[in-house]
Amino acid sequence: MHQKTAVMTLDRDVSLAPVDPRLFGSFLEHLGRAIYGGIYCPGHPCADEQGFRKDVLSLVRELRVPLVRYPGGNFVSTFRWEDSIGPVKQRPKRLELAWRSIEENRIGLDEFSDWAKKAGSEILMTVNLGSRGLEAACDLLEYCNFPGGTYLSDLRAQNGHKAPHNIKVWCLGNEMDGEWQFGHKTMDEYGRLAAETAKAMKQIDPTIELISCGSSNDRMPTFPQWEATTLEHTYDFVDYVSLHQYYGNERGDTQDFLARSDDMDQFIRTVIATCDFVQAKKRGTKQINLSFDEWNVWFHNTASDNDTMQNRPWQTAPALLEDHYTFEDALLVGEMLITLLCHADRVKIACLAQLVNVIAPIMADENGPAWRQTIFYPFLHASLYGRGTALLPLLSAPKVETSGHGAVDAVVAAAVKDEAAGTLTIFAVNRDLQHDIPLTLRLRGFAESEIAEWIVLENGDLKAENSAAKEAVRPAHRSDAVRSEDGWLLPLHKASWNVIRFQKKR
Ligand code: AHR
Repeated sequence: MHQKTAVMTLDRDVSLAPVDPRLFGSFLEHLGRAIYGGIYCPGHPCADEQGFRKDVLSLVRELRVPLVRYPGGNFVSTFRWEDSIGPVKQRPKRLELAWRSIEENRIGLDEFSDWAKKAGSEILMTVNLGSRGLEAACDLLEYCNFPGGTYLSDLRAQNGHKAPHNIKVWCLGNEMDGEWQFGHKTMDEYGRLAAETAKAMKQIDPTIELISCGSSNDRMPTFPQWEATTLEHTYDFVDYVSLHQYYGNERGDTQDFLARSDDMDQFIRTVIATCDFVQAKKRGTKQINLSFDEWNVWFHNTASDNDTMQNRPWQTAPALLEDHYTFEDALLVGEMLITLLCHADRVKIACLAQLVNVIAPIMADENGPAWRQTIFYPFLHASLYGRGTALLPLLSAPKVETSGHGAVDAVVAAAVKDEAAGTLTIFAVNRDLQHDIPLTLRLRGFAESEIAEWIVLENGDLKAENSAAKEAVRPAHRSDAVRSEDGWLLPLHKASWNVIRFQKKR
């Protein structure tokens, strides 16, 4: 019988770092049906006066997304931002190269900023450093943030937005290390361009924060030299370096798939080390933090997406990257959220990629309702209950064997306290597919707290999916935690996402 126990010790006074709310950001790209047919669908019964779907907006608000990256992604690398402003009828239709689509520019910067306000989100803007450069980035910043009295800021007012959009965080290009990127660059080419662009942008608005492009993923041949070399160019002008990572269960080996969050952890550690190396080399005082601005599970539809992009005619908003997520995908998303929380001292921004229809927690059926994918739930729970101060988690867990990662911890967990609200929340995944594992929680300084709620996501079918018609994977509650001498004992079911919420007694 498998009776091994995981033990998590938490001390109210031993904190890791405040959790930056921007850790629960997301991403909307002009890609597939994310914008057209996703957030914007003028003919739909739920459309508002601007054509935005109210049912989609309401699900986005439910997720409390503080920050949405826009407009790409790969899309941005040939994007001419000027195409997307002014009277809609006069906007050009263009060939969009990254996703081999036709971009009609019916939604542009000003409309998207209206949408973001309705969603309660800030925009994280990406500038085009692929086909364009310093001048276009500066023009875009002037259009968005300069109060008025110049050609571009007055043009914004003329286009209906007298008040500046005041966009605070900007990405200097997207995945510039990738050969697939239009305008792909070597590390020195990118580093020089990004540094000069950053210098000019900060001259226009010194209050903005800038993100230097890191590697597209940790398997890139130039990782982590890319980070070291590019940051040597950009260090003086930027605040963050970006990380992107997607995982998939291509081999159908779920136990190993669920170990992928350990890869994410190692990726983050390597990037931190590289940032600190550059800081030391520069004799710098500024710490470069991390913006994990694309992360998710992505692999389900690769063959049909390739077919659409390689063999079909150019289309406007074709269905692309519409992965239908399974229960096991939700478990890994939960683990990735735990990994981000465990690095809250250095990861200040993270964007679940993406938000609607395209590798997304929210699906919007063309003539039907909007609905929640399986991955909606761990993200929802982390966004609602993961704000506050991350505690330093001391966790010892039994091991589970995997085919590609060796023996890994069977339980991963993070803890966040909110002193003002009097709450402590523990997020834990038992990623052992065979065994329930009792979790002993040793809590110091939380004697007056009781379990207010224990939310779980579990399903006998790892491949269970949700649809508009049926929500097969949805949260449930448990109430069988047992108080012990020095804390609590929680029998975590095999393959389960757990959110244990403590509330201080009033
Ligand atoms: O999110 C989908 C794509 O993944 C983005 O456009 C790109 O940046 C990444 O490769």
